[in-house]
Amino acid sequence: MSSKRVYWIEGDGIGPEIWRAARPVIDAALAKESDMRIEWVELLAGEKATAETGSPLPEETMNALRTADFAMKGPLGTPVGTGIRSLNVALRQTLDLYACIRPVRHFEGLETPVKHPERVNMVIFRENTEDVYAGIEYAAQTPEAKKLIAFLREEFGVTKIREEAAVGIKPMSEFGSKRLVRRALRFALDTGSKSLTLVHKGNIMKFTEGAFRQHGYDVAKEEFAAQTVVEAEAASAPGKLVIKDRIADAMFQEALIRPEQYSVLATPNLNGDYISDALAAQVGGLGLAPGVNMSEKLAFFEATHGTAPSLAGKDRANPGSLILSGALMLEHIGWKEAATRIYKAVNTAIARRAVTEDLAAQMTDARTVGCTEFGEIITKLL
Ligand code: NAI
Repeated sequence: MSSKRVYWIEGDGIGPEIWRAARPVIDAALAKESDMRIEWVELLAGEKATAETGSPLPEETMNALRTADFAMKGPLGTPVGTGIRSLNVALRQTLDLYACIRPVRHFEGLETPVKHPERVNMVIFRENTEDVYAGIEYAAQTPEAKKLIAFLREEFGVTKIREEAAVGIKPMSEFGSKRLVRRALRFALDTGSKSLTLVHKGNIMKFTEGAFRQHGYDVAKEEFAAQTVVEAEAASAPGKLVIKDRIADAMFQEALIRPEQYSVLATPNLNGDYISDALAAQVGGLGLAPGVNMSEKLAFFEATHGTAPSLAGKDRANPGSLILSGALMLEHIGWKEAATRIYKAVNTAIARRAVTEDLAAQMTDARTVGCTEFGEIITKLL
């Protein structure tokens, strides 16, 4: 018997109902494999944790996650009136979940804003700990902002900042950039992908984003020379993983015009945030987008949407993002056949046009079903 322990966090808002629909799907996908089981262990976080322990992120939860290999979570609302800005950011920073990974592909039957959504099949690796998202910013007119501006003016002769400006800092390190690209490179090689594209704004931000690009090329050359080739020399080395780079704004055009030429993308934090959602929308799948945040040890799978407060408790939410994140986890564990079964079942459910209201809104002649029924339909298809 091969059993893997998976810690799970129910989440707030629609969390409980999407879990009730999603977990039977994941278990049913494994039921066929007699020797594979998940040992589900619940951890408290969010409103449930606050109600039971007084803390939205109890130390017990963090201790378990520090030693865990696999975890899954529903959405967590941002608690009001506590010192924590966002539980998701707290989890990411404390557990050093530095790589946010989002696969994007089209499910047949979903109507989308583009003519050929089936040409999109990409996996985005977004750096999760640095960049303007590091949280180092100071509101306009505060003593901190004024002090920082004065320092830049006096010490570095900077004249371009208005005195009343708000200020944010954009830290990006060689270490942070290289470990993200290294992870994306390993994935691209393991999955036989054709290319890895570094997405950056290095033409404007030379020492942060430009350096990200350079560190990306360097790590490919230093650590994966035998398996990779730069785009300019690709014709002379067929079969090797092609390393290329695109300026972020051009990448948005490419994603629309020539998506089939891209497979794995590696990006700094902000670019990755934008392009993940843009690509998911392009394939009509914002409500179906799976995701995982990874440290060197922990793979933390999640529903990528929020708590959808207006739907909570009404059996109207789409459990698809959590279900597909479960499939991604099975794939990551190495149980690829079980994952494929889930992808096929979701495909079939959509093709049969009995879907939750968010998907029905993008389809012709679809029958709207509730969260519970959508989960049951997918489970039966397994
Ligand atoms: P949201 O994702 O909850 O809602 C945005 C829109 O999408 C709403 O119209 C909602 O009804 C719809 N929606 C979201 N998930 C859906 C689903 N599974 N099925 C059908 N429709 C769905 O984002 P919003 O409103 O900005 O945030 C609400 C709360 O969620 C906030 O407290 C926010 O901090 C938190 N949040 C948590 C995230 C996480 O835990 N990963 C991610 C994003 C937001």
